[in-house]
Amino acid sequence: MTVMSHFPGRRTAASAPAGASALAAAPAGAAAPWQALDARRALIQDRHLRDLFHDEPQRALHMSLDAGPLFIDYTKQRVDAATLVCLHDLARARDVAGWRARMFAGDAINTGEGRAALHAALRGSGPERAQAEAQAELQQMRALCSAVHQARRCGPGGRPFTDVIHIGIGGSDLGPRLALAALKGVVPAHLRVHFVANVDPFELDSALAQCDPATTLIIIISKTFSTAETLLNAGHARAWLMRDAGTAHRHNSLVAVTNNAAAAQAFGVPPDQILRLPDWVGGRFSLWSAVGLSVMLAFGSATFDTLLAGAAEIDRHFLEAPPERNAPLLLALLSVWNINFLGAQSRAVLPYSQRLALLPDYLQQLEMESNGKRIDRDGAELAYATAPVIFGNVGANSQHSFHQLLHQGGHLVPSEFIVLRAGSDARSRMLSINALAQSAALMTGDAAHPDATPGNQPSTTIVLPEVNARTLGALLALYEHKVFVEGVLWNVNSFDQPGVELGKRLTTSLLPAFDAGELPAATDASTRALLARIR
Ligand code: F6P
Repeated sequence: MTVMSHFPGRRTAASAPAGASALAAAPAGAAAPWQALDARRALIQDRHLRDLFHDEPQRALHMSLDAGPLFIDYTKQRVDAATLVCLHDLARARDVAGWRARMFAGDAINTGEGRAALHAALRGSGPERAQAEAQAELQQMRALCSAVHQARRCGPGGRPFTDVIHIGIGGSDLGPRLALAALKGVVPAHLRVHFVANVDPFELDSALAQCDPATTLIIIISKTFSTAETLLNAGHARAWLMRDAGTAHRHNSLVAVTNNAAAAQAFGVPPDQILRLPDWVGGRFSLWSAVGLSVMLAFGSATFDTLLAGAAEIDRHFLEAPPERNAPLLLALLSVWNINFLGAQSRAVLPYSQRLALLPDYLQQLEMESNGKRIDRDGAELAYATAPVIFGNVGANSQHSFHQLLHQGGHLVPSEFIVLRAGSDARSRMLSINALAQSAALMTGDAAHPDATPGNQPSTTIVLPEVNARTLGALLALYEHKVFVEGVLWNVNSFDQPGVELGKRLTTSLLPAFDAGELPAATDASTRALLARIR
């Protein structure tokens, strides 16, 4: 069987030297469906989408489905009915249903960290114990928010809070930042929220310049309370709070959300201002927890509950919909087909809604940090590809930026269009029609210039009635479960991120050496020269 390895130099089972770590040429237990899919590839990879539509005129009927408030059309994916059957065989061979049951039961499926992955418990699914913990945290959030909104909780001088500075990075930033941008104007805001993730002084200094220490609540979000960028920013923000003479006790303007309460307390956050993030919530799956405190402070607990309810609809759909009508499962299977059999190495995320402009950023972490791995759950090196490179931008801007490559670049790049129902405004109609035109053009190509613009680029279109707390919750939960299923199909642990530790170690060793002017002997020549250049 041809192993579809897409990484130059990646060894395949056939070429692995004797004694090398076992190379997983196909996900464990799935050699047969993997082989069947490779046979399907040989049969249809050169068929044009036009042919598939000709062979299956009813595609548009049976290759689309509803999931909560979302409508998903995957008719422009380069699969036919027989291939979908083989993909579902793969899902069964990989025991997706069993892994789903284990996740919702709270089993320690995050084998890299020996933890459960129970983000669904934050919206009402999962073991009673986890749900009780989630409810307690939600109550703590609600109490803090109502105290702030009703000015029972004020700045040190007794003036109500008007601004929140949310300090966090990665999963401690991307979800809340996306939610604030998406819901701005949809729901009236109680306060202004300023996000500070980067350690570039510009970001925090710009936020502080817009705020008054007497009316600003600083929220430090860090599951580990050890992320260097967050702690350095938090120290500067605390100093800013404390700077005003005669107002030494500004501590009630400091809140922390973390799984490491001891470190937060040592930093100076009063114990009763620390909201606990359970260890069974991964950073990139944490919007639904106290990490989303800024969202509740901005828009109120009713809106936050609606966000949770939208996600809960997709949880129920994922648990109950039959495989052929199960959106997260189908999106994951199509992803495996495009990557492991058609050879795609990237995916374009194209939200045709300015409110969702940050969705590509959010999905980059969710997908690439979860499944960008080359070792499987059992420690074997993988001979097949896993997570694609996710890129994208808001449509229609993307059409005037990188769509040229999608149409004529010669790369196989699956696209994902997120489209809103066209409103009464001519501009919103143009926006949504643009998305449909792009996905059609990517499919058909230009018959007048088939060499230059061949088409046959696959895409999926997800239609939302509008952007609101419910549809946003549903959309993000859809992607969370899709990523989980991909990980099961690829036999990787989607819930740890060991690959980011090396870079952190190098920064920790270089920074003091740079400050002291002497470098570790092992520092490579390029880094030495660059350190001299930036000194
Ligand atoms: O380094 C990657 C990472 O651990 C992400 O997984 C996480 O969301 C981010 O850093 C921030 O981590 P913390 O919330 O612990 O500060």
